Amino acid sequence: MSGGDRVRTVITMTTAAARDVVLELASAHAPARAIQVVADLGVADAISEHPRTEEELAVTLGVDADALGRVLRLLEAYGVFVRDGDRAWNHNDASRLLRTDDPGSLRSYVRMSGTPFNWGSFTHLEYSLRTGKPGVTQLGAAGWTQYLDAHPDQHEVFQDAMTAKARADVAAVLATYDFGRHERVADVGGGHGHLVDAVLARHPAVHGVLFELPQVASEVTPHDRLDVVGGDFFVDPLPACDAYVLMNVIHDWDDDEAVTILAAAADAGKSRGASVLLVEAILPEGAEPHRAKVLDAIMLAVTGGRERTLRQYERLLSRAGLELVAKTPTATTFSIIEARPR
Ligand SMILES: C[S@@+](CC[C@H](N)C(=O)[O-])C[C@H]1O[C@@H](n2cnc3c(N)ncnc32)[C@H](O)[C@@H]1O
Repeated sequence: MSGGDRVRTVITMTTAAARDVVLELASAHAPARAIQVVADLGVADAISEHPRTEEELAVTLGVDADALGRVLRLLEAYGVFVRDGDRAWNHNDASRLLRTDDPGSLRSYVRMSGTPFNWGSFTHLEYSLRTGKPGVTQLGAAGWTQYLDAHPDQHEVFQDAMTAKARADVAAVLATYDFGRHERVADVGGGHGHLVDAVLARHPAVHGVLFELPQVASEVTPHDRLDVVGGDFFVDPLPACDAYVLMNVIHDWDDDEAVTILAAAADAGKSRGASVLLVEAILPEGAEPHRAKVLDAIMLAVTGGRERTLRQYERLLSRAGLELVAKTPTATTFSIIEARPR
């Protein structure tokens, strides 16, 4: 966009609308914190299937009825929960996602967003802006994985959050990419295995490999067609497979680290002509709103990684000896980038 175009865009915004944008952004911590605390307290579970008054909820949850009502009123304004009568609250589609037992539950993801790991890292965003380093290093850890190692309670919430937020994404990935064409599929940094489990369920002839940090690997539920390999992808070779899926893994790391991981997959799969599949939110080149821009700020503050445009991914792949062969959007935010050894 030229300088002239930019000026024209700015002056088409009324002053009132511009003020609203700035004020809304400056106070965005209020709804964010509200939904995190409501998820943490289990308010959505306490409402159950029937409307409950603020007083009933306050007794069940051990909170102040008036304060709870005010926080729920804020969330209602954003479309989460609905009032039923004067002081009773009921569910709508969005608030049901905060229930633990909802099939699409996002409760653990919302809780994770409010942990000291995530929220605390953001309190050091100025440090990240000055140094380019993640704010998590100001919380007494060398990096994000070391922080989670030292805080098992938050680690558990983090892994649950990864599984929860990936539910819809895993279904979208399986609807887009046919893993049945491969014999051995590795899910690298696959957490507790939600993606590889879904691949094995869909394709009875596929054998899966889950490569994870030893502590996470030790928590994985066994499956007769799954090898669980504990290791560190910066140090240990990856097992030989026909496809390596890295879902939301490369975005956790800076360029040099990302190239190391990609090169490990390229090396391990070279003799089999393996596919390397990245599942990531690709940054658009333009100024439009996109979830990848929010995730990018989270990577800056928390992990020291980054979201990337397709061109940036292509450059990373090339540095790792890989060639991009396809980029396919899925029904959710994520695209699948397929690469093969050059
Ligand atoms: C953002 S999570 C993504 C999990 C999963 N792929 C998903 O999309 O839901 C990144 C994963 O990488 C794993 N990880 C981090 N460092 C690792 C390392 N050095 N070696 C192997 N796995 C690692 C973490 O334990 C975590 O489960």
